[in-house]
Amino acid sequence: MALHLQVDGHHRVVEGPRPDTTLLAWLRASGFTAAKEGCNEGDCGACTVLVQDEEGALRAVNSCLVLLPMMHGRRLWTAAGLAALDPDGGLHPAQQAMIELNGSQCGYCTPGFVSVLVEAAHRPELADAPADDWRLDDQLSGNLCRCTGYRPIQQALRAVAGSCPPGLLPTDPPPGGPVRYEAQGQRFQAPTSLDEALVLLAEDPPRIVCGASDLALDVNLRHRRFPSLLSLERIPELRAIEEEPARIRLGAALPLTELEAWSAEGLPVLHRMLRYFGSRPIKQRATLGGNLANASPIGDLAPVLLALDALLLLASASGERRVPIASFFTGYRQTALRPGELIAAVEIPRPAPGTRLGAYKVSRRRELDISAVAACFALREEEGRITHLRLAYGGMAATPARASQTEAALLGQPWTPSALRAALPSLDQDFQPMDDHRGSAAFRRSLARNLLLGFQLETARHEQRALHADHVGTVIL
Ligand SMILES: Cc1cc2nc3c(=O)[nH]c(=O)nc-3n(C[C@H](O)[C@H](O)[C@H](O)COP(=O)(O)OP(=O)(O)OC[C@H]3O[C@@H](n4cnc5c(N)ncnc54)[C@H](O)[C@@H]3O)c2cc1C
Ligand code: FES
Ligand code: FES
Repeated sequence: MALHLQVDGHHRVVEGPRPDTTLLAWLRASGFTAAKEGCNEGDCGACTVLVQDEEGALRAVNSCLVLLPMMHGRRLWTAAGLAALDPDGGLHPAQQAMIELNGSQCGYCTPGFVSVLVEAAHRPELADAPADDWRLDDQLSGNLCRCTGYRPIQQALRAVAGSCPPGLLPTDPPPGGPVRYEAQGQRFQAPTSLDEALVLLAEDPPRIVCGASDLALDVNLRHRRFPSLLSLERIPELRAIEEEPARIRLGAALPLTELEAWSAEGLPVLHRMLRYFGSRPIKQRATLGGNLANASPIGDLAPVLLALDALLLLASASGERRVPIASFFTGYRQTALRPGELIAAVEIPRPAPGTRLGAYKVSRRRELDISAVAACFALREEEGRITHLRLAYGGMAATPARASQTEAALLGQPWTPSALRAALPSLDQDFQPMDDHRGSAAFRRSLARNLLLGFQLETARHEQRALHADHVGTVIL
């Protein structure tokens, strides 16, 4: 089949490019040059464009990390085509604000900033956001500017965030539907049902892809080719959140922005980690399933799920099985997934009343950075003694893992600074971390201890179950 896209108000029929062509490469080769190429790896935001999907949601995404067939049936806008939104062909209020507040100098970054400002304008929940609202920082966290300085851009963002200019966005969602696209000996398929995906997965093992925020790096940086790709992002069963009295089930293909919005109330400890996960354009594409399947030792969501005793629901043509996350990671970048299996969902038992949870990420800069160490802790006490404890870390070993010896040393003890300090040496038995450019082994060991001490301080200060939402919870030993 040919691909059908609407770009800047023009209908385009695409045949010929390889399925692993990035949206950015195709846009630029097709004359839509407002999307700029900076890093080609999701770090600078110069390539950010707007996409309206079949649910009608408007998302600012990094076009360097989107594969072209993923955009079949979607409406896209680059900054140069925003006039197509206005019946009178005028500037979008976000563009106007950038001009009036001097948000641009050389202009290289400007189309990307305009895209995230337009997205912000159409997010009603940002109306009346106070100037120090972290969601405004988050909106800009994926975009770099080397000349203007961020103050005028932040002012432009504040001028338009949540303003929801009427009559600009098409209200009828674009058509969705399955995709089956072949070109130059490569195939890309995006079925719309789980059953169909499982049949395809059993037939001719394709490489699974979801948001492509990892996989596109293989294409762009390592020049890897994928003869057959199976995308899960159009399968509604994999994008659902089901809340039951005893458990929560999170679809593996749900974009992290949606998980973040739900988790603010639904699971605050996950929300706290998602706040520091990548940038908003990354989270608009990245998924929970992709974050676990890539089995990165520094993936940020695994420690949270380890502390919550989550189960992974793995599906294949021959049925489903549930695997505790603690046994899912079998080695460095290896998982318990068998050929023909995919992660369909993550099931989280609801924490028992009285459980206190804290999640922490330590990286070299606060926004859009990879963790040196991430951690999540869960604690319950009865009659002054610890009865339930999960100490989960990322960045301390070849896989995300629990500090089981430290947990054992603390169970039954009082949750006091002295008992905790007595147990801290056990962390050295649990983990022998590596030296690398994100931190030395000694630094990581010290972080692991300090994060736990920080959790102790937080829980001591805050008797209530929900911890406060400070940016960091670390203390110096
Ligand atoms: C700029 C940038 C910033 C980032 N920041 C962070 C960060 O702060 N924290 C962090 O943890 N990660 C971060 N990442 C990594 C990445 O975004 C996440 O791991 C993301 O969750 C991957 O999801 P995806 O759907 O995009 O995966 P994809 O790229 O689509 O897939 C990744 C891998 O998982 C497999 N896969 C995907 N879904 C499934 C499934 N349902 N079942 C089985 N296999 C599957 C694919 O075959 C592939 O091997 C960042 C990446 C970039 C480029
Ligand atoms: S080119 Fe830098 S984020 Fe895409
Ligand atoms: S205006 Fe020059 S990079 Fe931002």
